[in-house]
Amino acid sequence: MSDTGSSRFVRRVCLVTGAATGIGRAVAWRMAKEGGAVAILDINGDELETTRAGIEARGATAYAVVADVSIPTDVRAAISQVESALGPIDVLVSNAGVPIVGKIQDLSLEDWDRTFAINTRSTFVVVQAVLQGMRERRRGAISITASSAALVGEVGSAPYAPSKAALVNFTKQVAVENAALGIRCNCVCPGWVDTPFNDPAFTSEAERRETVLRQVPIGREGVPDEIAAAIAFACSDDASYMTGHTLVVDGGLTLGPS
Ligand SMILES: NC(=O)c1ccc[n+]([C@@H]2O[C@H](COP(=O)([O-])OP(=O)(O)OC[C@H]3O[C@@H](n4cnc5c(N)ncnc54)[C@H](O)[C@@H]3O)[C@@H](O)[C@H]2O)c1
Repeated sequence: MSDTGSSRFVRRVCLVTGAATGIGRAVAWRMAKEGGAVAILDINGDELETTRAGIEARGATAYAVVADVSIPTDVRAAISQVESALGPIDVLVSNAGVPIVGKIQDLSLEDWDRTFAINTRSTFVVVQAVLQGMRERRRGAISITASSAALVGEVGSAPYAPSKAALVNFTKQVAVENAALGIRCNCVCPGWVDTPFNDPAFTSEAERRETVLRQVPIGREGVPDEIAAAIAFACSDDASYMTGHTLVVDGGLTLGPS
């Protein structure tokens, strides 16, 4: 957890999905460090417990709930559980995702449906579930984790990239429907980030290094803290005039050929 020395989430209840590892864990740590009462949700109970213990070891609060974001009834029950334990949710980070990739002719309908259920439909369900309370209280901030893949064509990126592209536009729908009620919604598009997520994409460390060097002008993968910094900014009052925005944090990956 980086020491930000800031307290932007004091007296805020923050829910982070996909918080067992990677970017979600870094976001949860950061929001807790900045004073938030953080709820973490994931399907991976063992790693979620590691995130929770890490937050509590630093003297902050964390409430863990194991749920599968692709099952709407489980998501809604998990949110009720969080609100009973910590109070109404002020900040939502919809971040859980899976990297189902492959060339179009090799993909099954099940691959497509599963990807959209976990990456896309889950965001609709979780946003809808917290919005009612945010609208009643006339305050709230939402960040949705999309991907740089949402913004370009990439060989082998269906259905992952389209599932994330839908989130870029869904962010704008949430933003316009709720801006007048004091609720902001932005999305963050990471490029290559060093998390377990990308392990299946490479057969060796050498291939990983070569791909990143070739594609990323900054010349390295991002680290989870660098994405967490952008998500925390989007959810904080520092971004009070920003909504519907797509914040690309990709080391220059989508700038085009260098
Ligand atoms: N790592 C990257 O290079 C990268 C790039 C662009 C976007 N992203 C996005 O960032 C987000 C976080 O990914 P990460 O890199 O931290 O990877 P990660 O694998 O470390 O984290 C993803 C988390 O989502 C959880 N998850 C998966 N399916 C779930 C389900 N059905 N229900 C509940 N939780 C579930 C996983 O258990 C895991 O904890 C994802 O949405 C991913 O698409 C990652």
